[in-house]
Amino acid sequence: MSPALVVYESVFGDAKKIALAIAEGLATRLPVDVVSAREAPSQVPSDVRMLVVGGPNHAFSMPKPATRQGAIEDHGAEIPDTTFGLHEWLDRAQVPAGMSAAVFDIRMDHPKLVTTMDRASKTEEKLLRGLGATIAAAAEHFVVTGTKGPLADGEEDRARRWGQALAQIVAAGTRR
Ligand SMILES: Cc1cc2nc3c(=O)[nH]c(=O)nc-3n(C[C@H](O)[C@H](O)[C@H](O)COP(=O)(O)O)c2cc1C
Repeated sequence: MSPALVVYESVFGDAKKIALAIAEGLATRLPVDVVSAREAPSQVPSDVRMLVVGGPNHAFSMPKPATRQGAIEDHGAEIPDTTFGLHEWLDRAQVPAGMSAAVFDIRMDHPKLVTTMDRASKTEEKLLRGLGATIAAAAEHFVVTGTKGPLADGEEDRARRWGQALAQIVAAGTRR
């Protein structure tokens, strides 16, 4: 597997766009694979040097079967299997001890008071730490202007730059 791996969950496509932009940034320095949680390997290979995971906030946290069902019923989302996404992958995945990792989430453009309640990225970090990964960079948050998107202007560029910064962290670790 490539030395960088981006794993995402995306209902309406915005987190996928961000995952692909992060991968473009990472790819300026190292080969990268981008996969949805459904396609992600249950055992992350030891040659992966940066694992990036992310997805949307649903009901102030990571998507769950009930919120995916809500996305179908209330917003017309098409989700073939509501029982499996990023949280469920992180519940089962095996990650080599100490692997560098970073997380992102997608949230609405709410007032700060509301967005401070969004915990998706915190839950992603907690699950990764529980798997033995080391969080190598502060979580990044990307903004959509509505429930079904689109991303706010400039968010994909920001994601590309963040991917580049993550690649630099990997390169700096290699030089040490
Ligand atoms: C069931 C449901 C619950 C949501 N709850 C939140 C929330 O608590 N906070 C928030 O900022 N956005 C919330 N949203 C909007 C999501 O942020 C938005 O749908 C998502 O970021 C879009 O990403 P995606 O296109 O990758 O699915 C919710 C959306 C759905 C469908």
